[in-house]
Amino acid sequence: MKKDLLSIADLNRKEIEHLIEQALHMKKEGAPPLLSGRTLAILFEKPSLRTKVSFEIAMYQLGGYGIYLSPEEVGLGKREPVADAARVLSRYVDGIVARTFSQETLDILAGHSSVPVINALSNLEHPCQALSDLFTIYEKKGGLPGLTLAFIGDGNNVANSLLLSACLVGMNFHLASPPGYEVKGEVLNQGKEFAALSGSQIRLTSDPYEAAKDADIIYTDVWASMGQEAEAEKRRLAFSGYQVNNKLLGLAKRDVLFMHPLPAHHGEEISAGLLDDPLSVVFDQAENRLHLQKALLVTLLSNPKVSVK
Ligand code: NVA
Repeated sequence: MKKDLLSIADLNRKEIEHLIEQALHMKKEGAPPLLSGRTLAILFEKPSLRTKVSFEIAMYQLGGYGIYLSPEEVGLGKREPVADAARVLSRYVDGIVARTFSQETLDILAGHSSVPVINALSNLEHPCQALSDLFTIYEKKGGLPGLTLAFIGDGNNVANSLLLSACLVGMNFHLASPPGYEVKGEVLNQGKEFAALSGSQIRLTSDPYEAAKDADIIYTDVWASMGQEAEAEKRRLAFSGYQVNNKLLGLAKRDVLFMHPLPAHHGEEISAGLLDDPLSVVFDQAENRLHLQKALLVTLLSNPKVSVK
């Protein structure tokens, strides 16, 4: 049976750990052509740099082929119903990577396609980012359970997937966001269920200094995500005390990692120059999208007749 990745919660702790191990192995040893002859549709409703390039290159390096489909050429849900697009693509490709506005579009794609569907960012989640980030943290810190990740800013798609993934693997998750911009109740409740099993602690606050205290990782993202451009000014005001800068990083552990999924708005959610700080691992994060997604593609798209390590 096909397996989709629509939410990070579609994976369990063991599966996440296995993906990280596979990614680490492929990063060190290189990736053999395990997806020779396999094909992937990369279907996007929103702009992308890292996700588009890393999925295309991952397919190429694994011996397969990825075809990028821009919002204009497909007109998902406008020119053609989402369900029909899913049924057509299933006749051509072995997997679909989709970046959508609504999570429901992903559900429809997955419900009508006979091949795996991977969420490459929706308004609700960004599981590929969270998986790659756990891989980066694992690489830098040598383990995950017991570490504290403090997310400063909007309770957005990236925050949702990070909260869930942290709680799945036993990391503590702090979130500092202004009132009205917290993570949604549903995500929080799911995170609490995972935390009860893994021993993670969740702390929600509106005080960025409280969240950052003694953290192992300080993470932030843009204040207005794709699709929220009209709210940018309102959000700039709401988030004005939530910039990640040296003062905030100074409250965390001395060997804290600074992380951001990019693109960044220098001088807004981060102080100018922060990406170049020795504590910043943002470009390792970007690179690791490639390695982790290779592991994910091999896991979901492999021909069962071909043996995979
Ligand atoms: N929250 C951002 C993440 C970009 C990788 C957005 O959705 O625009």
